Amino acid sequence: MNELTRRDFLQSAAAATAAGALVPSIAAASNGDPGLPSGPVVVSSANGLRATEKAATMIRSGADTLDAVVAGVNIVEEDPEDYSVGYGGLPNEDGVVELDSSVMHGPSCRAGAVAAMRNIKTASSVAKLVMQRTDHVLIVGQGALRFARAHGFEEVNLLTDKARKIWLHWKENLSDRDDWIGTEVPDDDAQANALAALPFTYGTINCCAVNPSGDLSGVTTTSGLSFKIPGRVGDSPIIGAGLYVDNKVGAAGSTGRGEAVIKICGAHTVVEGMRQGLSPTDACMAALRRIVETTTEKRLLRDDGRPKFDVKFYAVSKDGRHGGAAIWSKAQYAVYADGRNRLEPAEYLYERPEKDKDA
Ligand code: GLY
Repeated sequence: MNELTRRDFLQSAAAATAAGALVPSIAAASNGDPGLPSGPVVVSSANGLRATEKAATMIRSGADTLDAVVAGVNIVEEDPEDYSVGYGGLPNEDGVVELDSSVMHGPSCRAGAVAAMRNIKTASSVAKLVMQRTDHVLIVGQGALRFARAHGFEEVNLLTDKARKIWLHWKENLSDRDDWIGTEVPDDDAQANALAALPFTYGTINCCAVNPSGDLSGVTTTSGLSFKIPGRVGDSPIIGAGLYVDNKVGAAGSTGRGEAVIKICGAHTVVEGMRQGLSPTDACMAALRRIVETTTEKRLLRDDGRPKFDVKFYAVSKDGRHGGAAIWSKAQYAVYADGRNRLEPAEYLYERPEKDKDA
C-alpha cells in the first residue's frame, strides 16, 4: 500500500462502508493496488462538468494533476455565461470584477494564490505562476495584476454587458433614498433574472483531482461575493479555507459563503477529517456542522436558527473516493470517476424549504 498506512486505509474503508460510500469497492476498482484509484478521479462544483471532463482527459494522457485541473477551470473562467467566475463574473459594489484564486500541487507540497485581481480572465493560471515562479504564496490587488502583466497575460474588461445589467439592477434598487431610480429585472436571461432577485451570490468553481499514482492537486477560482466591498477577499484564495491538498490524504475545496469557510479553515478541516478516517462525504459533513456551530450572529440566522446562507464542500481521497456536501439540500457536484463524467447529488444537513431565496 503506497503512502496510506494499512491502518489508515482500513479505518477509512470502514468509515466509508458505514457511511454508504459512493465508491462501492476500492479494491475492486483498483489495478492491483487497493490503495490507489484505477483511473483519474476529478471532483468539482456543479458548474464544473466541463472542468472534470477536461482534467480527466488530460490526466489520462499523462498530464500533471495541477495542469489538468487548472486547464479544466480555465474553460469556466473564460465563459461569459458563468456569472460566478472569471470573465462575466458579477462585480463588486463599484461595478468592477475582482477575482480570487488558489492552487495546490500535492506531490511538491506547493501552493500559489491571487486575490482581488482585476482585468485578467484566468486567475487560476496566475495563481499557478505565483506558485511556480515566485517565493510567495499569495499576491493581491495591483501586485497580482502587475505580476500577471509581467507574465504576458492579456488585460480585458471582465465586466460583460449581462453582468453590468445585473449590477445596475442591484444598485438602482438598493434604496429609495438615493438618486438611482429602480428598474425592472434586466433582460430575458433566466439566470440573470434569478441572480438579480437575490441579495447576494457566492458562486465559485473548485476542482480537485487524483491520478492513478495517488498524486493530488486542486484549484479554486471565483469572482467572489457579488457586489462586495472593493478589496474584499473570500475563502477561495486562502490556502486551508477554499482549498487544501495533502498528497498523503486527499484534496478538498469549497463554494458558498467564504466568510463562514474562512472561520473554520474549511478545506483543511475536510482533509483532516479524511486523515482521521472519515469518508470524503462524512468529512465534508463534519466541516459543515462546524460552520453551523460557529454561526452565532443573529443576522446570519433564520427564525429557526439555521444559517441563511449555503456552503458546499467537495473532496477526493488519495484512494479515489469522492464526495460533496452542502448545508442545504438539492445541491449537486460534478465528478469524473470510473470512466464516467456526471453530476451526483450532494449530501446535506437540512432540507431546503421551497422558495428559500436566502439559503
Ligand atoms: N466562496 C467564494 C467567496 O466567498 O468569495
